[in-house]
Amino acid sequence: MEKLVIEGGIPLHGDIRISGAKNAALPLMAATLLCPGEHTLRNVPNLRDTRTMIRLLEYLGVKARREGDVLYLNSTCLEHDDAPYEMVKTMRASVLVLGPLLARCYKARVSLPGGCAIGERPVNFHTAGLQKIGARCDIEDGYIQAEAEGGLKGGTVYFDIPTVTGTENLLMAATLAAGKTILKNAAREPEIGNLVDMLNSMGAKISGRDSDTLTIEGVHALKPADNTIIPDRIEAGTYLIAIAASGGAGRVTNCCSAHLPSLVEKLRQAGLDVEEGDSFISIDSRQGSALTCVDIQTRPYPGYPTDLQAQFMALMTLAEGSCTIHETIFENRFMHVAELRRMGAKIKTDGRLALISGLGRNGLRGAPVMATDLRASSSLVIAALAAEGRTDISRIYHLERGYENLVEKLSGLGAKVWKEQE
Ligand code: EPU
Repeated sequence: MEKLVIEGGIPLHGDIRISGAKNAALPLMAATLLCPGEHTLRNVPNLRDTRTMIRLLEYLGVKARREGDVLYLNSTCLEHDDAPYEMVKTMRASVLVLGPLLARCYKARVSLPGGCAIGERPVNFHTAGLQKIGARCDIEDGYIQAEAEGGLKGGTVYFDIPTVTGTENLLMAATLAAGKTILKNAAREPEIGNLVDMLNSMGAKISGRDSDTLTIEGVHALKPADNTIIPDRIEAGTYLIAIAASGGAGRVTNCCSAHLPSLVEKLRQAGLDVEEGDSFISIDSRQGSALTCVDIQTRPYPGYPTDLQAQFMALMTLAEGSCTIHETIFENRFMHVAELRRMGAKIKTDGRLALISGLGRNGLRGAPVMATDLRASSSLVIAALAAEGRTDISRIYHLERGYENLVEKLSGLGAKVWKEQE
């Protein structure tokens, strides 16, 4: 197994180009199951998760071809209508094939994902929503067995909590349902807007993009189209925080600054100079001057993203004063705390609340630490970049799920970072 080694304490400087968003690529790839023909997806990041999704689509019968960051997916002949446990257990987002398979084949069998490192993460809103639009969903032998004899029928779905992949599954399923479907209290993440645009370009009739109420007028058939994945706002946010933590200055480019409203605000409150252009965000930590502690609370978009909570915590360990971080989305998303403590961080937790006593800019020290999930791992990378001395991060396969060319990108900013065999 490989580990990541970082010699910290070097301020990062320069530009860093942001890749396509993992969490947009996955639903857009699944949406190609909705109709036969060759679909084109551009700006697709080459990540462990997108490769897993390609393997799942191939199992279902899709012919996949990649040329650089362009992915051609030909879904003319489907051979299976199930997502096996072996694939779903390595990537929960595999559940995204449920909606499109059901819409096209009138039945689907998808393994229940089960819990993961950040929480229980049930999919009951997905199945309850599909039932509202005419599907029968039973749980048998660990699988969701869904069926809609004669096709899905429009209906009204109210989500108790805005769910990102739940909204995406329902959106895809409802495109081919008979009549009108309304999704209320839907998630508003930019990745959902990307999916709405793709589905509409395929001939779907969806209105209400970016709002919490999406209306889908079902159509009889869809056609393949050419679409581009939006930039990864979580990757952009992670590098902005990394530059700030290292005491440097730089820009993330090829990103959409409008997709990071809450992070930009919090970074400014922490005392950083942040400037936004249409497709870049620059950050300057004013030669490593003191950071101010800032409270955050994770919320559905446009609130502060849970996927940037761990990274912001790493930054706050370097600030002056104390602050709280309240994780409201997932019940177990503080796995990075114990590892940050190994590097000297002063953090107390009580359920979903963490209290951070800032150590100041030079407070962290390198240590051997272990990555536990994707975003927890990136917070350890940030802490390691800021820490004095060497940090060895084991189990980096987590990072490879969501950060394209991490070592190359950080090296481009001047970081001393490399991979070694454990
Ligand atoms: N929830 C339920 N029942 C459901 C669905 C969700 O109780 O049927 C709860 C969840 O347990 C959670 C809340 O609703 O408490 C919101 O979860 P959501 O369904 O929105 O999460 P998700 O769709 O499974 C996506 C991202 C996650 C990201 C969350 C929140 C993808 C592929 N995954 O997950 O990304 O953290 O939304 O923004 O889009 C990551 O990239 O590291 C990652 C975990």
